[in-house]
Amino acid sequence: MSDLYKKYANQYDRIVRENIYNALLERPSTCALLDDLKGQDIVDMGCGSGVYAEYFLEQSANNVTCVDASSEMVNIVNQNLRGKVKAYVQDLNFGLPIEAAESADVIVSSLVLHYIEDLTAVFKEAYRVLKPGGYMVFSTHHPFADFECSVSGNYFEKELIHEEWDTVGTPVNVSFYRRSLTEICDAVTSSGLFISKVTEGCVDERAKQISEETYARLKNNPNFIFMRCEKPLS
Ligand SMILES: C[S@@+](CC[C@H](N)C(=O)[O-])C[C@H]1O[C@@H](n2cnc3c(N)ncnc32)[C@H](O)[C@@H]1O
Repeated sequence: MSDLYKKYANQYDRIVRENIYNALLERPSTCALLDDLKGQDIVDMGCGSGVYAEYFLEQSANNVTCVDASSEMVNIVNQNLRGKVKAYVQDLNFGLPIEAAESADVIVSSLVLHYIEDLTAVFKEAYRVLKPGGYMVFSTHHPFADFECSVSGNYFEKELIHEEWDTVGTPVNVSFYRRSLTEICDAVTSSGLFISKVTEGCVDERAKQISEETYARLKNNPNFIFMRCEKPLS
């Protein structure tokens, strides 16, 4: 796990509340795929510092469960939202063993799946935990954008990419899996979920005031991909 989500968890929490990539592109594009959350039981897979959990509570969700592999992130959630959400450390490579089958109306997983090697197991687990008729919304790196980082030059081959990111104002090493659109879609559909909507996100115009250059790049190039997946009623 990158230091970005452990050593720098507090800085990460502050920055994602207002930056372009999370606040003005990723979150509005993910939220656009969610229905009314009032009274819904929601599991946030890879909750980070709980920015989504705060939104779910504002939308009058019923039970909000936050899981993340970083104890530092879970500590921030518990500091801010103790008593309002259930938050605990869980590596999603080992599924959601604490969550009962058919217990969630909605699963959200934003910008987490590119850290997981075997997506098939994750979607299988999402299928188990969702109630029939429930749905999952996730965002992840756009496969076309990530192909620019390919070392193999083979788009269809999964690769572990190592990069240095400046998200928190200091360079931090991050490793993530680059994979094809086919691999993502196959992992979803082999679980029994079906994909009902795919979007490539839309950067908010307010990003221009922060950086004209980043706004122009995100307006013209895909960065993340967003999918909504449904669990059939029977
Ligand atoms: C880019 S952050 C996104 C956080 C949050 N979903 C958001 O959008 O604000 C990625 C999160 O995934 C978590 N993560 C990475 N690998 C994980 C794993 N194997 N299991 C659970 N969480 C993981 C990190 O700790 C980090 O909090």
